[in-house]
Amino acid sequence: MTTNSEGQSMGTKCRVCGGRVAEFVDLGDQPTANGFLLPHEVEGEFRFRLAVGACEDCTMVQLMEEVPQELRYHAGYRYQASGSAGHRKHFRTDAEWFLANELTGPDPFIVEIGCNDGVMLSTIAEAGVRHLGVEPSGNVADLARAKGVQVLSAFFDADTAAAVRGAHGAADVIFGANTICHIAHVESLFRGIDALLSDNGIFVFEEPYLATIIEGMAFDQIYDEHVFYFSAGSVRAMAERFGFELVHAEHIAMHGGEVRYTIARPGARTPSASLDALLAEEEAGKLSEPLTFARFGRNVERIRDDLVGLLTHLREQGKTVVGYGAPGKSSTVTTYCGITTDLIPFVVDSTPGKQGHLLPGSHLPVKPPSAFSDAYPDYAVLFAWNHAEEIMAKEQAFRAAGGKWIRFVPEVEVL
Ligand code: SAM
Ligand code: TMP
Ligand code: ZN
Repeated sequence: MTTNSEGQSMGTKCRVCGGRVAEFVDLGDQPTANGFLLPHEVEGEFRFRLAVGACEDCTMVQLMEEVPQELRYHAGYRYQASGSAGHRKHFRTDAEWFLANELTGPDPFIVEIGCNDGVMLSTIAEAGVRHLGVEPSGNVADLARAKGVQVLSAFFDADTAAAVRGAHGAADVIFGANTICHIAHVESLFRGIDALLSDNGIFVFEEPYLATIIEGMAFDQIYDEHVFYFSAGSVRAMAERFGFELVHAEHIAMHGGEVRYTIARPGARTPSASLDALLAEEEAGKLSEPLTFARFGRNVERIRDDLVGLLTHLREQGKTVVGYGAPGKSSTVTTYCGITTDLIPFVVDSTPGKQGHLLPGSHLPVKPPSAFSDAYPDYAVLFAWNHAEEIMAKEQAFRAAGGKWIRFVPEVEVL
């Protein structure tokens, strides 16, 4: 956000094209979503205004205000990509696809931006193929190194990319998953891609999809780390602006519905039919139109009222409720809805680094999964709703004991 000499807001400029960003939803004062706290850290917790708008020129949906990247990614970063069986399987399949289709030359080289704990690159390392993860969060980078993955501890930008090119040569594939939409410095990112990518190389990234959020009401995907909310239309405009071509886009079943984009140098690859189909789908669905965004804003408020209403009703009836999963998303929804321990006394999560901490913003305590299975509650709010299948299969005894799941995306529902 830019301010004038009196400190008044001059509005937010699009990080891609400099156009005006029109705000359409405000989720209030929020923390950084992976900033899990110890009780003594509650005082002085970082907050910022979590609001989202769309560029009136290139349509890119983005945060109105952003949190400095050093506050988001550091040696205490809690998210571990290998935390679910579904993720491990997905990224092994990705790696195998790259090995079979793109890393087939004499001495291929793949770079992953945001390799986290090495969930994808460990398969590449096992195959003995040259690779490098660029990962600023030291704790997860060390987990990747322990799996035999080569990692450079750095933020990816134009300078880092030039250094990698100098040391290792051009990359046949540059990959990023749930990371490219986190990078606010897009111009520097694309200069880095330009410096590092081979002439016929591809830049592939998998990110939360705008339609899943706007049409599927996954409003909890909005948090500080997600600076951008991509659609095929806005990614195409972004690629062109920085001298590249979007050649492929396809739906993938991750995080409730993502899209995998493939970008190449202009003319290097043949655009796919699925890209045209997705662009046409977005056009027909009026995905990036002001009326669609306005409807989303109203629906978010309705879900908040319904969820708080249901939890209040259950409390009055003396029912026990806990939260299941403490993803970054749960910070958005619990903070926005003002959910405190009188409505949900604690949440459980399988990530050791989150246990014993408090959820950012709402400060609900995070306990290990045994706190759930040792004494089943009457209801469990499924904060990790994108892993519903895996969790419900694992927790059949909860249902058998009469327990009920509460979902809130795309609407509040008791299952
Ligand atoms: N790729 C994994 C996945 O899909 O599960 C991890 C995604 S995690 C949400 C985002 C990762 O990107 C974090 O490990 C973070 O430290 C890293 N990251 C954030 N900004 C980055 C940047 N500018 N360059 C490289 N990595 C970055
Ligand atoms: P994600 O939605 O960003 O992948 O995060 C999911 C969170 O849910 C992560 O903190 C791990 C947690 N989780 C469990 O606690 N139990 C489970 O069975 C699964 C699949 C995830
Ligand atoms: Zn723009």
